Amino acid sequence: MKIGIGNDHAALDMKNEIMAYLEEKGYEIVNFGTDSPESCDYPIYGEKVANAVANGEVDFGIAICGTGIGISLACNKVNGIRCCVCSEPYSAEMSRKHNNANMLAFGARVIGPELAKMICDTFLTTEFEGGRHQRRVDIISEIEGKN
Ligand code: RB5
Repeated sequence: MKIGIGNDHAALDMKNEIMAYLEEKGYEIVNFGTDSPESCDYPIYGEKVANAVANGEVDFGIAICGTGIGISLACNKVNGIRCCVCSEPYSAEMSRKHNNANMLAFGARVIGPELAKMICDTFLTTEFEGGRHQRRVDIISEIEGKN
């Protein structure tokens, strides 16, 4: 499975730890940066990962900033992206089961790396349940189409 990952300066150490962890588990990682500790603008990196998810270059995306909030907002501006900020595994599980999330975001200043790894594991191994949840996800897509 191919995973795109992107981050701002606040999340560089976290990104490196998560990348190494997921590579060790056999995931193929595409790193969209930043790889610099210099202050930068999180929407730039969120958009890069989101575009890769939307055009099928990668299967899922992971976006990390200080809170996970700003970068998730940017990702969700790309058509077809459902990016959910998760600070614990339950939300990560439900974001896949019910929302068919295709991107995970979290905050490097909010959670530690071990919790982040559990969240990634849950997100990447949980399937969408479909059924009535597909109808609701379709309505979200319709809203996107109207705007
Ligand atoms: C950067 O200081 C910080 O604003 C950013 O990482 C993120 O938390 C924004 O939502």
